Amino acid sequence: SGAFPFYGEHQAGIVTPAQDRLHFVAFDVTTTRREELTGLLQEWTAAAARLTQGRDAGASGAVGGPPEAAPDDTGEALGLPASGLTLTVGFGASLFDDRFGLAARRPAALADLPRFPGERLIPEISGGDICVQACAHDPQVAVHAIRNLARIGFGKVTVRWSQLGFGRTSSTSRAQTTPRNLMGFKDGTNNMKLEDDDLVRDQLWAAAEDGADWMAGGSYLVTRKIRMTIETWDRTSLREQEDIFGRDKNEGAPAGKKNEFDPVDLAAMKPDAHVRLAHPTAHANAHLLRRGYNYVDGSDGLGRLDAGLFFIAYQRDPRRQFVPVQMSLAKNDPLNEYIKHVSSGMFACPPGVRDAGDYWGRQLF
Ligand code: HEM
Repeated sequence: SGAFPFYGEHQAGIVTPAQDRLHFVAFDVTTTRREELTGLLQEWTAAAARLTQGRDAGASGAVGGPPEAAPDDTGEALGLPASGLTLTVGFGASLFDDRFGLAARRPAALADLPRFPGERLIPEISGGDICVQACAHDPQVAVHAIRNLARIGFGKVTVRWSQLGFGRTSSTSRAQTTPRNLMGFKDGTNNMKLEDDDLVRDQLWAAAEDGADWMAGGSYLVTRKIRMTIETWDRTSLREQEDIFGRDKNEGAPAGKKNEFDPVDLAAMKPDAHVRLAHPTAHANAHLLRRGYNYVDGSDGLGRLDAGLFFIAYQRDPRRQFVPVQMSLAKNDPLNEYIKHVSSGMFACPPGVRDAGDYWGRQLF
C-alpha cells in the first residue's frame, strides 16, 4: 500500500511495476483560453502530487472545509492509503490544432496512426486532447483520483471517454510474476522491463535530438481497446490456442521449450504465431513497453460478455514501434478471428514533474 514518488525525471506509471487496477480517462478541452488550460494543468499537478501520496485532492479535504462549500475532495478514499497510485498525463494530437497556438510544437512522432485492416474504431471512445492514466492496487483509489481531476476540470474540460481495467496483463519488472490475460495465457513474459537499462534508454524515453525538445524524458503512449469474442475462443481447442500464440498455456514456455523465460525459438512456432509476428527480430529490433489491463464492461445484451484487453504501450516513436508491429498483426495474426480493435488513442506523455514549482507539460507551453 506504499506510495510511489510523484516528482522525478520521468513520469511515474510507465516503468513503475504495473499495478493491478486501472482507470484511464481522455478529456476534451472546452476552454479556448490558453491561460485557463495552463492554469488547469497546474491545479491538476498539485492535486496529483497530493493524491499519489494518499492525501486528499485539495488542502481542506473531504471534510475540513467550510460546511457551506462543496468539499475540495469527494471523500470516497478517506481512510485509504496511497495504494501505489500513479497518475500519468499525455497530450493527444488534437491538442496541437490552432486553438492554443501549439501546431508547431506537435512532435513528428505523434503522427496520426494509419488505418489498420479489420479495425472497427468507435470515434466516441477514441482520441482525446489530454489523457490521464491512473493505476493503483485499489480500484477505489484509481477512480477517486480520476473523479477529482474531472471535478477540478469542470468548465474547462469534459470527459470524452474513460475505461476501467481490473487486472494487469503485463509485468514491467523482473520482480513481478507474469499475469494472465482473459484468453488464459501469461502475458508480458517478453515485455520490456524496467531492469533493461539499455532498452529503456534506447526505446522507451524520447530524447531532445528526436525533434521535439519538450518531450525529452517523455514517452509516447498508444491505447487500443481490443474486444475479445470470448465465447468463440472458449470453444477453440487447446492446441489451436497454443499455436496461435506460440507459447504453451500452463507454463508460458515458447514452442519447443520447457520454461517460461527460455529464449524463444521462432522457427519452432507456426509462421503466423502471434509471438513470431510481434517479435523484435521481425521489426528492426522494435520493442514496446506493454502495460495493458483486462476489462469486462458487463455484457452486450446479446448474451455475450463485453470483455477484452485494454492494450497500453509506451515507446520512443510509434512510427518505428507500434505501427509496424500492429500492421503485421492486423494482416497476418490468426488471433484476429477472436478480437476486434474498437478504440484507439495516442498521446505524447511529457517528462516528469521536477518539484512543486513545476507542472504537467510546462516545457510545452
Ligand atoms: C506477446 C497476447 C495484442 C505485441 C504476447 C504474448 C501473449 C500476447 C500471450 C506472449 C507473452 C509475452 O511475451 O508477453 C496478446 C493478446 C492481444 C495482444 C491476447 C490482444 C487481445 C498485441 C498487440 C501488440 C502486441 C496489439 C502490438 C501491436 C506483442 C509483443 C509481444 C507479445 C511485442 C512480445 C513478442 C516477443 O518479443 O516475444 N502477446 N497480445 N500484442 N505481444 Fe501480444
